Amino acid sequence: MKKITIAIDGHSSCGKSTMAKDLAREIGYIYIDSGAMYRCCTLFAIEQGLIAADGTIDEAELERRMPEISVSFQLNPETGRPDAYLNGENVEQRIRTMEVSSHVSPVAALPFVREAMTAQQQAMGREGGIVMDGRDIGTAVFPDAELKVFVTAAPEIRAQRRYDELRAKGEECDFDEILANLQERDRIDSTRAVAPLRQAEDAIVLDNSHLTIEEQKKWLLERFHELTD
Ligand code: DC
Repeated sequence: MKKITIAIDGHSSCGKSTMAKDLAREIGYIYIDSGAMYRCCTLFAIEQGLIAADGTIDEAELERRMPEISVSFQLNPETGRPDAYLNGENVEQRIRTMEVSSHVSPVAALPFVREAMTAQQQAMGREGGIVMDGRDIGTAVFPDAELKVFVTAAPEIRAQRRYDELRAKGEECDFDEILANLQERDRIDSTRAVAPLRQAEDAIVLDNSHLTIEEQKKWLLERFHELTD
């Protein structure tokens, strides 16, 4: 049976990656977290001192150094999920901090960053059999994807989930700061000039505000089987 391409886009912290990972594991497809790739570029920029304290990005230097950024994924046998590697180093934990979260949207809005990451994503999905989540997968990366889902949930519900997740990892965090951060990311992601966050015309919308992880997993698996059975 031909393996299809599945694009899962939507707002920040709405559980896209959880549902995409679970689906990929269930159906034996490769899962790619495209947001992790933009987070890796952001971590690189922070660690190389290319983001000033006021958030200003040294764009010229970052553009010059883009060829030094190589992002890959490797399955973590303990979690059963892929971890992100930046230049061969496992950075899965370091790309999920509030510091990276607060700088990632402006970095992801830079056209030369998008061009480099989009090319890498398209190369990863050339053979099909992939579930990729992000903001522009169904519109810009794989406009011909057979299954496109656009996920959303109320901002307060998304912030609460993110808060619980960070606390569970033992990170100090503040609910209002998280809410403000995700609303700001949504604003920047939706209004940027290149490949903004928007629903593809042929995407199915899923508002998971009041769904459990199990319910949304079932919903997605049903959409997959409708197309492939
Ligand atoms: O899904 P996430 O929160 O890890 O994504 C991090 C940031 O990367 C988010 O603010 C928007 C950006 N992003 C993007 O511009 N395009 C994608 N395909 C995925 C993420």
